[in-house]
Formats: sequence, C-alpha cells, structure tokens
Amino acid sequence: MFGSMPASLVLLGTALVGAVLFRIFYNLFFHPLAKFPGPWYCAISSLPISIISVLRIEPQWLQSLVKKYGTDKPIRISSTMLLFPKPSTLKEIYWEPALNQKAGLYGTGILGPPHLFTTLDGDNHRALRKALGGPQWSIGSLKNHWESRIDDQVQLFIEKMTERAEKRDEVVLCDKVAEFAADIMTMLSFSQPWGFVKNSRDERGILKSWRQGLDFFGFAGRSKFCQNYLIHLPGLSAVLLPKTTDEGGMGWLINQAINQVADREVLIKEKGFHGKPDFMQHCLEARMNGEPLSQTQKVAHVTLLIQAGADTTGTGLGSTLRFLVLHEEKRKRAQAEIEAADRAGKLSTPVQYEEVREHLPYFVACIKESLRLNPPATNLFARVTPKDGFRLDGHYIPPGVDITSNAYVVQRDPELYAPDPDAFRPERWLEDKDLANTMEASSFVFGMGPRVCLGKDIAIMELYKLLPEIIRRFDIKLIEEGRFVVAGGVGYNRGFKAKLTRRA
Ligand code: HEM
Repeated sequence: MFGSMPASLVLLGTALVGAVLFRIFYNLFFHPLAKFPGPWYCAISSLPISIISVLRIEPQWLQSLVKKYGTDKPIRISSTMLLFPKPSTLKEIYWEPALNQKAGLYGTGILGPPHLFTTLDGDNHRALRKALGGPQWSIGSLKNHWESRIDDQVQLFIEKMTERAEKRDEVVLCDKVAEFAADIMTMLSFSQPWGFVKNSRDERGILKSWRQGLDFFGFAGRSKFCQNYLIHLPGLSAVLLPKTTDEGGMGWLINQAINQVADREVLIKEKGFHGKPDFMQHCLEARMNGEPLSQTQKVAHVTLLIQAGADTTGTGLGSTLRFLVLHEEKRKRAQAEIEAADRAGKLSTPVQYEEVREHLPYFVACIKESLRLNPPATNLFARVTPKDGFRLDGHYIPPGVDITSNAYVVQRDPELYAPDPDAFRPERWLEDKDLANTMEASSFVFGMGPRVCLGKDIAIMELYKLLPEIIRRFDIKLIEEGRFVVAGGVGYNRGFKAKLTRRA
C-alpha cells in the first residue's frame, strides 16, 4: 500500500500517528486531570467542546453532563478544562485574587485589540478597570445622566410599535428589542443613537455581523490548536476578521469608532468638549498610571461597549417577552400588577426605574427568572490556576488548568431551584426571602468578582424600563415562538414573531 511513497514520508506519517496516539493515551490515563470525571472524548483534546460550541448545543450538553456526573466533583470538559457546576463554587473561583488570570479562550484577538474583557493578566485588568470603571456606571449616576435619554428611546420604540400595531403587521419582536438595546449602546458611547429604533432596522447590519462571528469566536476560543497555532498563521486573520473598509458590520463599527474618537479629540483641542460626557469622553479622559489610554485602547473600548452590551441586553429583553407571551397566567399577573400601580398613580410615562423597583416586584421577578433560564452570556468564563495549583471546593487543581463555571448550568441547579429548575416560575423569587437572597448571590448572569459586567446596571435599567412599558401598552399575540440560540457562548433570540394590539 505504501509502495509508491518515499520512505521519509512513511516515517513522518508513522511518527505523527504515534505522537497523536501517545497524546491521547497520556491525556486519558496519565494527565493530572485524568482523575476527574467527564466524557472520554473530552479528555482527549479540546476539539470536541469546540465542535459542540459550533453545533450550538453547549449549554444543554453541559447540563446533560451535570445530570450524568453530578455536582460533587468538577467535570473535565476538555483535556485542560474543568467545569465547576455547583453554584457555591462561583464565589470561590471568581472572587479569588489568585484566580484572576483569564484563560486563553479570551485571548484569540478575534474581538480586536485587547480591552477590559480580553485582558488576560489580573494586574493589568485591575489597572484598566480602575481607569475605566467608576461611579458613572452606578445606578445613581445612570438615573441622573441617562434615564431621561433612555426615556426618549422608549417613547420612540412605543411609537414605532404602535404604527406596526395599527397596520396589523407581524413583528419579529426579538429583533426589535435587540435594535433598541443597540441604540442605547451607541447613544451611551457616542451621545447620539445611530437610528436602529428610528429606522426600525439593524443599522449597517451590526447585530447580524456580530452574530455571524460568534461560531468562529466560540470555536477559536475553545480549540487549543486554533488558539496556539491556526490563529497566528500569516494572513488568516486578515481573511477571517472584519475590516475597517467594510460597508457595514463590525468592521464599519470599528471604523466609526476610529473616526469619532479622532473628531472628538480635534473638538476638545479646538473648543473643548461641553456636552454631557458619554463613554467615548470617559475613555479619552481615563488615565492609567497618570497616562492617557493609547489610541488603540480608546477605540477598542468604545467598540467593546457595543459588542458587550447590545445583543446581550437585547437577548434579555427578547427572552423575557417570550416567556411572558408563552405563560399567559404569568403575563396576566404582571399586567394586573402594572394596572394596579397605574390606577394608584404610581407609574409615570414611560415608567421610571425606581417605580418598577418599588411597585412592580412581580415584574422584576419575571425578568430575574428569564435571565436565570436564558442567560444571554452563558460562556465558558475560564480562569487559570496559579503556578502552585489551587484547592477549590475540596479538590486540588494542578497549575495551568482552565477552570470555569457556566451560568446556564448553575442557574438550573437541581437543589437550589428544586423541585422545578427548568420551569419559568417567577414566584420563586418572591416566596422566601432567604432563598431569594441565595439565588441572587448564586446568579452568574453578569459574571462575578473584579471582572463583573461593567454595564450590569445599564442593562438592568433597560430591562426595567422597556419591558413593563411594552406589556402596559400592548396585548401580544404569538405568531412564532422562535428559539433561544447559544452560539460561541453568547445567546440571542431568533424568529420570535408576534402581532401587537394597542391596549385601551
Ligand atoms: C443582559 C445584559 C448583559 C449580560 C448578560 C452581560 C454579561 C456579562 C458577563 C457575564 C461579563 C463577565 C465576563 C467574564 O467574567 O469574563 C460581562 C463583562 C462585561 N460587560 Fe456585560 N453583560 C450585559 C450587558 C452589558 C452592557 C449593557 C454593557 C455596557 C454598557 C456591558 C459591558 C461589559 C464590559 C465592558 C465587560 C468587561 C468587564 C471587565 O472585564 O472588566 N455589558 N458582561
């Protein structure tokens, strides 16, 4: 069979096959993680979880592993990665300073030059977060500086939906709310919304382009071979990644960020900036060790906000609406709560964040329950164990191991959410205060610890303001349920179609 092949090729082939077999044998039986439970095919390499991510079944698959192997021990989900499925280990991992080194999963370069989210080293991240975090992200500051501007967008959204209702149009609701969230992010970054709501479309295909990149993002982040070798092949990233010359999508977004940062800097130099500070201004004024951010860092962060905060919040909005439409009894209760508060004169138009917090506890519970079941960022948020290894939940984990938890898994924990972890039951957040506090502390929707989501309060403000206003103004008739899709660890909703009717 090998008769016509040169002997050197045969030798090379044999050596390669031998090396692969040796690696498989080693990973299965002699690797320091061999003692942990998990499917054999995952122990061999990182390729299976990369494929599972591309097949878009990762959360359900992780959940099936938990059902099979239980929650007592971490589960080996790739040759070098352990999943900690117990909610109680979240704090142990994500608040631990020794575990603040992010895994290579984040460092592929696919999201552009390093920013807060993709800075791997814990110390570098701390310095960057100190420069870019701050009180402007807190709910108090958001209420003062941004709530009225979000109100304008809510009003515009309701007007647009009223027009569609009058025409008896079918509306892909999950897309419309994602467009709302995208507009809020562009407004926050550049002061002016980019017209997603006004024009009722995905401006420049930004959301579409984001979603198109997710499978590659998920595969490259999970596959060690891709991270270590493929992604560095000369010319490959130029082919695969968005370009600033693109007419739309992520490439166009980056180009806009470059231009707008440059224009703002000229304005500051010539006349000074006298507007209300937006995130771009915040990036320009930020100082790290007394020095301004580099030009690349400024652009990367303005872009990050839209990458991190548009479709994630859009997913939270779409999922909550879908759960409410599918569960008539819950929706009626939420509607009755709004009507009672309205009759008592407790709600403004549009509703204010504080009014929802104080007067619509059931609605708030619906949002929490929806984020629990459909966490928009249910990624593998892996950290790396330090050089001496680390003891976690009673287990010694050797050095250099990727350890992660997962929102979809911990938020369906069979004990904490017993007896119905998979059911949409907002009441669970209102029945027992202690239990609700534990569930709150075990929520991984926005991450945890020093790298917790920077825009958590903004996302919550958007959810609290737009959703009750929609349920208050419209009856929603389901046309198509659509699907909650998780691609590359990021969730979005597809094809949730409905007909709206204006309520009296
Ligand atoms: C429902 C909506 C959202 C969800 C579910 C979500 C989820 C998350 C999660 C899980 C992380 C932590 C990831 C990790 O540990 O590596 C994160 C980080 C981040 N998020 Fe969000 N996010 C949402 C909305 C937003 C919004 C609206 C913004 C912007 C205003 C935003 C900006 C960021 C940034 C900048 C980071 C990186 C923080 C850091 O590493 O210091 N997110 N988000």
